[in-house]
Amino acid sequence: MNVRLYVWQRATAAIMAPLVLVHIAVIFYAARRGLSASDVLARTRGSIAWAAFYGLFVAAVSIHAAIGLRNVLHEWSPLTERRAGFCAIGFGLLLAALGIRAVAAVVLP
Ligand code: HEM
Repeated sequence: MNVRLYVWQRATAAIMAPLVLVHIAVIFYAARRGLSASDVLARTRGSIAWAAFYGLFVAAVSIHAAIGLRNVLHEWSPLTERRAGFCAIGFGLLLAALGIRAVAAVVLP
């Protein structure tokens, strides 16, 4: 077990835990107020705060999920640690690219 990766996975989990609670609270708030997609976009577009919030979320989940996938592949597949690492990095970069695209769609003016 790689201690640095272990610490990164725990640290990113600790970052995501409060972020996911805020995200769920925002979903409830928007649903209760009956906000439409354009109402939501009117609030998020141009907001540096929401860009930072969801940008941090995307960074944390990309790192966290990639490390987790690396562990799972290493333990459960015949891949060597090195190859499991390459697959995990590819997966992490894919998550980061999709996430950044999604954040850009809601915060860019
Ligand atoms: C609030 C969100 C999340 C929290 C608090 C969280 C927390 C954790 C914790 C505490 C671990 C165990 C780390 C260890 O002791 O080795 C873990 C493992 C893992 N997480 Fe997450 N996680 C979250 C979201 C996610 C997401 C969104 C994904 C995937 C897209 C994910 C994928 C994994 C994987 C694959 C593992 C490794 C399982 C293993 O080693 O057997 N997690 N997570």
